[in-house]
Amino acid sequence: MQRVLFVCLGNICRSPMAEMIFKQLVKDHQLESEIQVSSVATCSYEAGNPIHLGAAKELKDHQIPVGHHLSRKITAEDFQNADWIIGMDFQNVNTLRRLAPDETTKAKVHLAAEVLPDNQTFEIEDPWYTNDFARTYAELTKILPYWLTKVVADDLVSE
Ligand code: 4NP
Repeated sequence: MQRVLFVCLGNICRSPMAEMIFKQLVKDHQLESEIQVSSVATCSYEAGNPIHLGAAKELKDHQIPVGHHLSRKITAEDFQNADWIIGMDFQNVNTLRRLAPDETTKAKVHLAAEVLPDNQTFEIEDPWYTNDFARTYAELTKILPYWLTKVVADDLVSE
């Protein structure tokens, strides 16, 4: 079992979009018994709030099921339980590395775009500011299949 945790600042736009798109990918590949997916925030600003309406609309427009979601901040337990902690931008990654309880959990933290070929380091821009949810969707659908390949490969090694 591999546990993938997507993380952004508020956990109402980018990381729940990543969670729901990745869950659909996992389902399409019949890997639901192998890969667990969730998402959290690095802060409590939006704690208890649902996914942003713009994010939900973008997902629905692409036939991605919008599951029940309420924002919550990452906990020490999340750091322990996850195998992959994937931040959307450099600020997320820096905050996660600062919040990580120890070196082992810190090593689980990754930038979403780092998985792309040619070691790309772009950030998933925050649609909370830009309102460009189509861009977020396009970036996530480019990146997430690479994460699925990586996570599956790691699952085979750890079996
Ligand atoms: P997200 O977007 O990190 O993609 O969920 C944001 C949501 C809320 C805030 C900032 C970004 N906020 O400042 O409340």
